[in-house]
Formats: sequence, C-alpha cells, structure tokens
Amino acid sequence: MKKTSPVSRSGRFAAGPSAEVAAFSQSISFDWRLWEQDILGSIAHATMLQKAGLLTKDELQEITSALETIGQEIADGKFQWKPDLEDVHMNIEAELTRRTPAGAKLHTGRSRNDQVALDMRLWLRDQIVDLSREIRALQSALVEFAAANAEVIIPGYTHLQRAQPVYFAHHLLAYVEMLERDHERLGDCFLRVNVCPLGSGAIAGTTLLLDRESVAVQLAFVDAAGRPQLTQNSMDAVSDRDFAVEFCAGAALLAVHLSRLAEDMILWASSEFNFVKIADAYTTGSSLMPQKKNPDVAELTRGKAGRVIGNLMALLTLLKGLPMTYNRDLQEDKERLFDSVDTVRATTRVMGAMLRHTSVNAEACRAASADPALLATDLADYLVRRGVPFRDAHHIVGAAVALGEKQRKPLNQLSVEDLKSIDNHFSGDVVEIFDLQKAMERRNLPGAPGTAEVRKQIARWQKTLEEQDVKV
Ligand code: ARG
Repeated sequence: MKKTSPVSRSGRFAAGPSAEVAAFSQSISFDWRLWEQDILGSIAHATMLQKAGLLTKDELQEITSALETIGQEIADGKFQWKPDLEDVHMNIEAELTRRTPAGAKLHTGRSRNDQVALDMRLWLRDQIVDLSREIRALQSALVEFAAANAEVIIPGYTHLQRAQPVYFAHHLLAYVEMLERDHERLGDCFLRVNVCPLGSGAIAGTTLLLDRESVAVQLAFVDAAGRPQLTQNSMDAVSDRDFAVEFCAGAALLAVHLSRLAEDMILWASSEFNFVKIADAYTTGSSLMPQKKNPDVAELTRGKAGRVIGNLMALLTLLKGLPMTYNRDLQEDKERLFDSVDTVRATTRVMGAMLRHTSVNAEACRAASADPALLATDLADYLVRRGVPFRDAHHIVGAAVALGEKQRKPLNQLSVEDLKSIDNHFSGDVVEIFDLQKAMERRNLPGAPGTAEVRKQIARWQKTLEEQDVKV
C-alpha cells in the first residue's frame, strides 16, 4: 500500500498544487494561532477514539505525548511551520505522523471541516473571557475617574450645544453602562460559541461509533449544569460561522462605544473645552508645530472602529452567498475574526490606561457649568410648580432668554421685576433657581444626574466591580 501523507490531495492526485496555488491557498501564515486549540482538540478526540476501541492504549499514549511535545516546541518557537502543508491542522498532524505511525489514525471520523470549527470555537471562548476582563478593567478606570472627580459639574450637551448641567461623573458612568451591555452581549455570544461541533465530520458525521458527548465534556463544552453542548446538525455545524459573526457584531458595537468615548476625550482635551488634560505619554507632538499636543491614542481608537465594523461587514458578505455546507471561502473568516479580537482588546486596554493618566481641569469645568442658560429648563420647572402649564412655561422662559439677550445680560442677572413683567408667576425666590448646587440636588430621579443619585450610582458600580474582582 502506498504510504499516505496527511495532505488530503494524496491518493487521488498525481501532482501537488503549483507553487502559486499553494501560496494562494495556504492559511498557515495566520491560522498558526490556533495551534494550542488544535492540539487540545486532537488529544480529546484521540482519548475518545481509544475509549471507542479505535486506538489502542499505547497508540493513544504515543499520540498524546507527541502532541504535547509538538505543543511545547511551538510554544518555544522551535517548530518549523511549512506553508506547503497548507494550514495549522495539517502541519501538526504531519509532524505527529512523522514522529509516530499511530498519528495516521488520529483523523479517524474527523474532517478538517469540523476540526477548524472546533478550533475556532475553543480559541474564541478564551478570547471572550479575556476581553470581558478588559471591559471590566476599563469600567473600573471610568468609575475611579468619576469617583476622583465626584464634585465636578460640566454642561451636558445635545447637538453639541450646552443643554443642562450634569456631574462629570454622570457623563463617565454613561460609558460604564454602555460597556456593561457590551459585556452582557459577549456573555450571550459565549453561550453559542460554547457548542462542540466535533463528530460532524466533513458534512455527514461518520459511520464509526464516536462518543461526541465525552469529547464535549473533555473540552468543557458544557452548560452551567455541566451538560454537554453539542451541535445538532452536521451540515450546519461545518458551515456555521454565526458565532464569529456574533462576536464581530458585539466587537463592532464595543468599538463604536470606545470611539464615542474617544471623541469626547478629544473634544474635552481641546483648548475650546479644556475640561481634561491627557498625560504626555498618551499624546504626541507635531513634527512642525512646537506647541501641539495631539490626542493620538483617542484618535486611533476612533479610527480603529472603522476596521472592526469592516470586519463584521466582510464576514457577513463572505457568508451570504455560500451554498451548504463547507466551502473554502470560509478560510477567509479567520483574519477578520482575529483582527476584531486583537483590535478591540488593545483599544479597550489602552483607553483604560489613558483614562488613568488623564486629569480634570476643575476650574474650566466650573466656568463652563456656571453658564446660567443651563438652568433655563429649571426656570420653566419653577413656573410649573406654580401651576403654569409646561408649554406656557417654556414660552415664558424663552421670552426671558430673549430679554436677557436684548439687555446683554445672562439669564440670572435679569431683575425680578424684569421677570415679573414677562409673567406674574415669578417672585423673589426665583434667584434660588440659579444656585447650581441646589439645582443638582433637585435632579434625583433614578438615573438622573442629581447629587445623591450620582453618588449612589458611583457606589453601586464600585461595589459591582469589586465583587467582580477586577484586576488591572
Ligand atoms: N484551512 C481551512 C480553513 O480554514 C481548514 C479547513 C479545510 N477544509 C477543506 N475541506 N479544505 O477553512
């Protein structure tokens, strides 16, 4: 019998691919990153094959120890990846078989189609755990930044126009909420990543009596109650990349949130706002203009959202026209997935570090939030408390603002007589409306930027993150 190599072309093919085709179709240059998962998956598969009577104990022992040695060599950077062996699966299997003839039995009841789906799921599971931790660390950087500046008030903006006063902490905690949803989405995505496809073979399973459940349990594809999670349709299992799309969608939304945070930091660090100062280490100078200090970390964060969104679009487009089941097009999934993982992780991390090296210019915030126009709505609420319908109150305060503009006076400098001339519901106590601190004390509905409520929210987040034991 002709000795076969693990390369799937052997036997059927008289000649190998041309050099050009080999270079075009190889994936080892990027899928080598799946080596650890590939080895883990193979050991679990071999362990099951032995229990099923398809490998002897000695064969299993030889396969396992050779795979472990190969893993060690890869970890030490001593392993020679061969592009002509196409991908990570064939590189490892070929080396295994070179070391032990039992290696040729490893692929029993298995295809690279279910193998690659398995490796990606195993890999992504770990990445989700890591990224979730990074999100928690960024949340804690935001909460610490908020707590350290708990007294600072800034204008809140709509349409980038001054709207109403908010605590700086309230603004930061808005991002903590967004990140919480990102964290939840990742956890939800994990549930569908955490399903074992092995045993699906190339498309139609196998005639051999494999024990799919034991493989799933060995690889921790289990639910909270410890029940094995198996894909339920072999055709779906080898062609499904929903789990990668879901991750990339969650990553894209996370990247969008980070980009918005970055944009706020960029605005706040400008001379026009001057609310914050980002430490030198997180900014760069200009090669031409000596005075410049540019918020490049934040700008790159904003820019990188583009590629993460692009990765999601690339994956969806990759899948939309594929007939069932596995098609080689699917090999294009990995770089997009890897890039989204790498990009959002690095971005989440560096934004947390930048926040930890950013200080607040309390004086500039105080000056901006002293703008009495921010309390125009409070003035309308004052009239509402005196029985004026809100629509009318809105109109009356609008007239007061117009009068102030005419007299070139800020809203709080109009005399009580002036106000009374507009509407007789105004009286002497109206001056209190312009006491910013009191105004902040009045906004205390759940979720509002009031003094007590913001303190409560800071404390709630501190406790939540402490319980999660966030290590930075
Ligand atoms: N490198 C391939 C991929 O990433 C592995 C699966 C190959 N399967 C096949 N039938 N050629 O998709």
